[in-house]
Amino acid sequence: MLELERVKALFKNQNEGFALVPTMGALHEGHLSLIQRAKTDHLNIVISIFVNPTQFNNESDLERYPRQLEEDLKQIKSVAPNAIVFAPAVSEIYPEGLRTRSYDLNGLDTTMEGHHRKGHFDGVCTVVEALLRLIEPTSVYFGEKDYQQLQIIRHMVRNRSIPVRIVGCPIIRETSGLAMSSRNALLPEASRKKAAMIYKILKTAKSKFGT
Ligand code: PAF
Repeated sequence: MLELERVKALFKNQNEGFALVPTMGALHEGHLSLIQRAKTDHLNIVISIFVNPTQFNNESDLERYPRQLEEDLKQIKSVAPNAIVFAPAVSEIYPEGLRTRSYDLNGLDTTMEGHHRKGHFDGVCTVVEALLRLIEPTSVYFGEKDYQQLQIIRHMVRNRSIPVRIVGCPIIRETSGLAMSSRNALLPEASRKKAAMIYKILKTAKSKFGT
């Protein structure tokens, strides 16, 4: 934590804003595109790697979530050798124990993913708010792949008056069309093929029936 304070003070002394790219690790091209975008906006970048327990509504899902810190550090070094990596322990983010804050998300959290994963978006907002208050970046970067999450975070940041610019970045896809995600590694080959079909079908429908 001392290290983080030192880094923040250094960035502030340089009188320039700095970027935060929050991740849960198991980095792929999608994350690297967020880092590239952050690099075009800021000289200084912090990348957080933290598998946030409060956004998993299922214990086995949390256990199975891919973790590969060494490999992540190598990938970061290849695209942003000067970036600061912040990989906190659970007790640093949750000093008072694993408590999820409750947010009024104006119904944005009751449909789609929020409908199937109760409490998930409260957990996401809890950790994003904690990271933003701790790190105090000028800009923060999220993928449009998690579009509902992006809109919810925009809403939460506005409601809580957190002074940060939120940058949404385009989806990066595998050659099959499947959106890149750390969780793809958990899919058996057959499910991965089926998942890629969804994008193809949507694209075909759009081309046949218009926008
Ligand atoms: O999108 C993610 O990887 C996570 O939900 C986030 C925003 C890093 C919060 O844990």
